[in-house]
Amino acid sequence: MQKWIMSKNELASYYEEIKECQRCALSATRTNVVFGAGDHNADLLFVGEAPGKNEDLSGKPFVGAAGKLLQYLLSTIDLTRDDVFIANVLKCRPPGNRDPKVEEIKTCRPYLDRQIELLDPKVICTLGNFATKLLLDTGEGITGLHGKRVEADGRLVIPSFHPAAALYNPSLQGKLEQDFKVLSAAISEMPELGKEPSESASGIIPF
Ligand code: URA
Repeated sequence: MQKWIMSKNELASYYEEIKECQRCALSATRTNVVFGAGDHNADLLFVGEAPGKNEDLSGKPFVGAAGKLLQYLLSTIDLTRDDVFIANVLKCRPPGNRDPKVEEIKTCRPYLDRQIELLDPKVICTLGNFATKLLLDTGEGITGLHGKRVEADGRLVIPSFHPAAALYNPSLQGKLEQDFKVLSAAISEMPELGKEPSESASGIIPF
């Protein structure tokens, strides 16, 4: 079945299925499962690390300072967050924004895998070490991998730094901008990424 015929509710239904998840201890401290947001029909998926405080409270990914930078980076390649889908490795906030634990990543991974299956993006941009190592199944860090085009499971993966890292280390912002240019070039080189007529706002999962 062609992707654009896929029911626009499949990802939304999946959210309904997992929004009360109790699979790990993070469920006890979270406010909301942060499923992801964007166009259910997007060819480009961003995968971050885990929700922070603002995301936990709002239920939406990347709404804090790192999200603002992500929004700016998207604007440099003529995209908005409604043109893409944004998700995270973990769906729940680790207390105090600590790093995700190996067991948490393992427990949460099936959710990301199912999201990827349903969305079927042509390109995935991993933001930071956790998403990159997970989706590329590598121990290599983001410093060596950022901006490279890597094939994984039939999809193009382009790793970049986590926007939050650039907030602490502004010299990374230029590198992120370069990586987004690589992303933009990769997308425009894929002729099949010409979008089917959009169903306008109905395609945007509003959480
Ligand atoms: N950092 C992430 O990795 N994800 C978010 O959703 C917000 C901040």
